Amino acid sequence: MLEKGKFIVIEGVDGSGISTQTGFLQKWMTENENKIGRTYFTKEPTDGPAGSIIRLALAKRLKPLDERVMALLFAADRLDHLCSQGDEQQKVGIINLIENGFNVVSDRYYLSSFAYQSQCVDLNWIREINRYSLQPDLTLLLQVPIEESAQRRNKSRIHDELYEREDYLINISRNYASIANCLQSEGENIVIINGNRDKNEVFEDIKDAVSKTLNR
Ligand code: TMP
Repeated sequence: MLEKGKFIVIEGVDGSGISTQTGFLQKWMTENENKIGRTYFTKEPTDGPAGSIIRLALAKRLKPLDERVMALLFAADRLDHLCSQGDEQQKVGIINLIENGFNVVSDRYYLSSFAYQSQCVDLNWIREINRYSLQPDLTLLLQVPIEESAQRRNKSRIHDELYEREDYLINISRNYASIANCLQSEGENIVIINGNRDKNEVFEDIKDAVSKTLNR
């Protein structure tokens, strides 16, 4: 029987280095494909139907949406990301890929909804609307001090997106830490990575955690 692939997620506040580290991981996993199997790299919000509405909202190109509506849109986008069937040309959903032996790495997943939307919306309800989401084999949470992530965002962005406000991001960062702690106590494999170091050092820790998960 075909062995299932592993599902790995990278998380953190805006400016924590998710894109840089995902880029490093993609290079390393692709170079080692013959040992670890093929990996599909993806991200949320996706470019599917719900994800496209989310992108407009993040760019503040829609009238402001209630945070409960945002939470539902993110959950809908996630379910579509997990289940969409696609065709020969299009990439298929996460569940299908994993069942067919691919590893999947996603830049953001439900921990983002738990940390970002729980600022204004009840966490239990957010968990409820995400109940059909597949649990990752590994979530890497990049932690950096808020001042550092603000500096990185200022360097790389022209416009601030919806949640890119210092007061929000302080709360979101706290939410990440406490929710990750709670999920760990429920048995989820979440590894917290100190992202406030040289990016190559950070990547060494990521490689370690990913290798352990791939060899399980
Ligand atoms: P990014 O593409 O630059 O990571 O931006 C996505 C933004 O959307 C980022 O601010 C985090 C936010 N977000 C949520 O608020 N909830 C979610 O469930 C996800 C996936 C992202």
